[in-house]
Amino acid sequence: MALLITRELHPNVAARAAREHAVRQLNITGAFDPARVLQNLDGVDAILCTPADPFDAALIAQLPDSVRAIATFSVGMEHLDVAAAAARGIAICHTPDVLSTATAELALTLMLMAARRAGEGERLLRAGRWHGLSPTFHLGVGVAGKSLGILGMGRIGRELARMARGLAMTIHYRNRTRLTPELEAGAIYHDSDASFLATIAFLSINIPGGAETRHWLNAERIAQLRPGAIIVNTGRGSTVDDDALIAALRSGHILAAGLDVFNHEPNLHPGYLELENAVLLPHIGSATVETRDAMGFLALDGIARALNPPT
Ligand code: DGY
Repeated sequence: MALLITRELHPNVAARAAREHAVRQLNITGAFDPARVLQNLDGVDAILCTPADPFDAALIAQLPDSVRAIATFSVGMEHLDVAAAAARGIAICHTPDVLSTATAELALTLMLMAARRAGEGERLLRAGRWHGLSPTFHLGVGVAGKSLGILGMGRIGRELARMARGLAMTIHYRNRTRLTPELEAGAIYHDSDASFLATIAFLSINIPGGAETRHWLNAERIAQLRPGAIIVNTGRGSTVDDDALIAALRSGHILAAGLDVFNHEPNLHPGYLELENAVLLPHIGSATVETRDAMGFLALDGIARALNPPT
């Protein structure tokens, strides 16, 4: 079968793809180029894309009839028009589960970096502005004994909860539905944003992107957080109103933020770049060799299933 791959893959995944398919490798870097995709689709059965490659309704409408599956190298699918694909009988596959631990690890990294001002400390040291230890130098805040509020208690949220319990944090959560006691594992459920936001010292955003969650973290909800709260986002940048968060980081109402995802990636709001109390990472939540291999293999499994459905 012919498989079009939009971006470079780790060698382990690329090797398996080449064993299983006649691969057309585009190696797009930077902005997505739908015209280039369309030029290379002659006889292609499936497409392997990434969250940086929006397959909207207009593009899906132009795909040749030979395309029967689109697999995305991500758990998030908001860059794909799933309804438009379904209407054309094109299967959509994604890569849930295998990235939960890596993404939770990164949320924890950001939380600790933000609380302990790690990015700022490293910048200071590298700039030759470290003049030695003193009792009041570079004070952050600890996480032990603090309350962590997890917005979106799916697989990644629950993995983060498991890790944060090891740091003696108390887990609170907000979710579409309450989990079973087994999945809650002692986490405290809130049935309103107001009680959730007023309770927590740390907020980790783990909800998907899309119209439903757009700007969930807005000025009104930020105001409901306790002064000095710390915010981490490893879900999607679209869930945050950047102007509101930047204003709260400037005023100090929000002590610090750790962000791995942004609106309009990779062109993040320039206001973040001026803030010492913002830890900024380039969307690397799932970027470990082990995880990216597992994601690639899962995407290839999905393509195999879609192209060879059980009879
Ligand atoms: C995902 O899988 O949706 C991540 O954001 C990309 O690694």
